[in-house]
Amino acid sequence: MSRIPLIAGNWKMYKTGPEAVETALDLEKLCLDITDVEVMIAPTYLSLPLVATALRDSNIKVGVQNLYFEEQGAFTGEVSAQMTKAAGAEYAIIGHSERRQYFGETDLSVSKKIKAAIQSNLKPVLCIGETEAQRDEQKTFSILDKQVSNGLKGLSFDELENLVLAYEPVWAIGTGKTASVDQVDEVHQYLRSLLEKLFSKDFSGKTRILYGGSVNPDNVKELMGIKDVDGALVGGASLDAEKFINIIKYRDL
Ligand code: 13P
Repeated sequence: MSRIPLIAGNWKMYKTGPEAVETALDLEKLCLDITDVEVMIAPTYLSLPLVATALRDSNIKVGVQNLYFEEQGAFTGEVSAQMTKAAGAEYAIIGHSERRQYFGETDLSVSKKIKAAIQSNLKPVLCIGETEAQRDEQKTFSILDKQVSNGLKGLSFDELENLVLAYEPVWAIGTGKTASVDQVDEVHQYLRSLLEKLFSKDFSGKTRILYGGSVNPDNVKELMGIKDVDGALVGGASLDAEKFINIIKYRDL
């Protein structure tokens, strides 16, 4: 089953609007000949409409890093799925470990956000991953099982047709410590079979599973060579267009 690789840049809380547009335009030039990989960047809420407008005629997709699950209302400081869609988002990263760690995101809020994203025709990127302590306690698979099952609860495979799963071990994010090939291989195989168990073989075979956590030009080729790795969610190394293009063009490395 062919799954076109997705290389996505999560820009987290970096770059002002003009800085984000500048990097996006640099990246656009570097991506002109890219056809075999889907590229996405997720700037801040404020930069999103600016970047989406700047990339209007390009082959680079734009995503949002979070959203709130209600459609509208008295929710000071929040932004709805529909608003991010109207601002130009095509993808929505949901449940990133930094949101779970610092902003009280739970599997329940994640599932509501996934539903809201789907209702607004956004493609959800569900982030999951264990902490170092959970891995040490041999809880990796039970944690991932819970995050996936609860995050996708109540949704049919038709609704989830554009789902992307992103495995990001918390201990590998921003630490320079990438998971080993064996660790990534083991987890991605597990996630592939979990999707099959929860939905169907067909669904599992179509759904892209990304790896995230200290991906850089030096390790991307090896990671992308793992059978069940269908792309990368990149933080730090996506902030610089010249560096990010080396990850996007991993086949040429
Ligand atoms: P780093 O690539 O900086 O480790 O971040 C990974 C990440 O959190 C992407 O969502």
